[in-house]
Amino acid sequence: MSKLFLQRCITPDCRAEYKLDERLYVCSRCGGLLDIEGAEDIGIDAASLRELWRERRASVDERDRSGVWRFREFLPFDEDTKLVSLGEGNTPLYDAPRSADYCRLPQLKLKHQGCNPTGSFKDTGMTAAVTQARKLGARLVVCASTGNTAASLAAYAARAGIDCAIIVPSGQVSNAKLAQALDYGAKVQEIEGNFDSCMNKIRELSEDESIYLVNSINPFRIEGQKTVAFELAEQLEWRVPDHLVMPGGNLGNSSAFGKGFRELLKSGLIDRQPKITVVQAEGAAPFARFYSHHEHGFVNEEHPQTLASAIKIGAPVSWQKAWRVVSETGGSVITVSEQEIADAKAIIGRDGIGCEPASATTVAGIRKLVSDGTIKENETVVAVLTGHLLKDTDYVMKYHSGTLITPDGSLVIRN
Ligand code: F0G
Repeated sequence: MSKLFLQRCITPDCRAEYKLDERLYVCSRCGGLLDIEGAEDIGIDAASLRELWRERRASVDERDRSGVWRFREFLPFDEDTKLVSLGEGNTPLYDAPRSADYCRLPQLKLKHQGCNPTGSFKDTGMTAAVTQARKLGARLVVCASTGNTAASLAAYAARAGIDCAIIVPSGQVSNAKLAQALDYGAKVQEIEGNFDSCMNKIRELSEDESIYLVNSINPFRIEGQKTVAFELAEQLEWRVPDHLVMPGGNLGNSSAFGKGFRELLKSGLIDRQPKITVVQAEGAAPFARFYSHHEHGFVNEEHPQTLASAIKIGAPVSWQKAWRVVSETGGSVITVSEQEIADAKAIIGRDGIGCEPASATTVAGIRKLVSDGTIKENETVVAVLTGHLLKDTDYVMKYHSGTLITPDGSLVIRN
């Protein structure tokens, strides 16, 4: 039986509808972002869904082994769709006592999406986007990237047997991420400029019908990524935390988490949403500025700067979706300094958990939110670690040898 999903423009006075097989990234009427709708009316009660998903964890079916496709009732694909999967999702939720102490909290949990097959959260979205690319008969899949999307797309394209081309900002992507993309057989083009220039270039390229763009502007990416909310809620026995804190760059992940929790709430699987807070690096914080001064409209950051290269982004494509999530859940958007990111990353390491710099913005951010009273000591908090330690070992070596220099030229102190 075919499920009743469709694509819909999120602009309130447009709301145009499109079929799932229309190859679109934004609304062709008004240029707004697209959401996939339909998961609200799947017609199965909450208790049966929980039971079904629990049983699937003991199954050997490829779809059930994936932490994304296990929740396929909420995904816009027919039962007989041929999936492109690497067994993504199923990432650990760790207790992190030293990080908790650092934040002055009795307890803190870290959801480590860096434990995905290519080492970042991108895999949960890529499995859905590349499955859709194959369904549409795409000849070439493309993305702009600060590195992780590139590594992930390259792997999933290789699994699907589809050619893959990637545009990255020259000299600004870690070697580990580039090495992954090359090993998986992608064509990598480096260009002068930053991630935002790469994004503009890739949007021009994808006007060709045979090319499929899989940055998070693609609503199928968001569908895959939203399942992490399902997995997290299940790991917490369907008791959502008071606060969920994640880094923000292009703002696809926060949009996806928010969509996931919204759908869980509508389906009666949870009874409230967590407050979703996005943390940005001080030098690349257009969303945080918008949060504090939204009367001026959204203003891009012309020259984003941070050592957390994954989130060095000045013109986030999904800011409207992320804004909806932060406002709807009562969360906030804050910034942290380079020193705070480095300190938090070292503390997370002392918990035996390795993440890349962008992910450490979360623990740095939580420490601030506790000290200014936004997070209370008796509240439950989950931080989302988005990428693995081995994604950027240069940063670690420089930090530990006392040679890590911030973009404005100051030395990061090793604590
Ligand atoms: N953390 C890591 C490790 C990332 O790679 C990214 C984004 C983010 C956080 C931010 O997530 O963009 O959904 O707000 N990396 C993209 C890339 C841009 O190209 O790999 P977001």
